[in-house]
Amino acid sequence: MKPIAIASLVLLASPILSQYQASVFPPFDAPNYPTTLLVCSQELQARGYWTLSQLPSYPNVSAVDADLGGCGTCWELSSSGGGVVAVAAVDGVRHYGLPPSFGLTSAAKDQLLGSNTEGLSLIFPVSAKQVASSVCGL
Ligand SMILES: *[C@@H]1O[C@H](CO)[C@@H](O)[C@H](O)[C@H]1NC(C)=O
Repeated sequence: MKPIAIASLVLLASPILSQYQASVFPPFDAPNYPTTLLVCSQELQARGYWTLSQLPSYPNVSAVDADLGGCGTCWELSSSGGGVVAVAAVDGVRHYGLPPSFGLTSAAKDQLLGSNTEGLSLIFPVSAKQVASSVCGL
């Protein structure tokens, strides 16, 4: 087995839910948002995804900090209130200046916090663990 495969198995088996930050990135609410604008454009277009809504899990997609996982990884996020959503990594976050975190659609935020949370602070805490990409349909 290659070392990289072992490393990812350990990561997937980890029961630890780490604490991260999430926010809504409003442009991702547009189903026709072109994947050419994303850090993951090459990977996504190679799989035939030219707009965000073509991804099987849309609107459950996210920008993910590059230190956490690359394009096409799948992350199960949960909020302290018990909301859970699995999001596919379609972009990096550093290019719009957030701390290590997830940049979500409004719909994914609603799964985590409920839909009556428009007035909530822009950045909120989430727990996150990597799950198999197949959970996100990839
Ligand atoms: C998005 O996540 C929610 C919450 O887990 C789920 O009910 C819904 O089916 C997901 N949507 C897609 C397209 O996978």
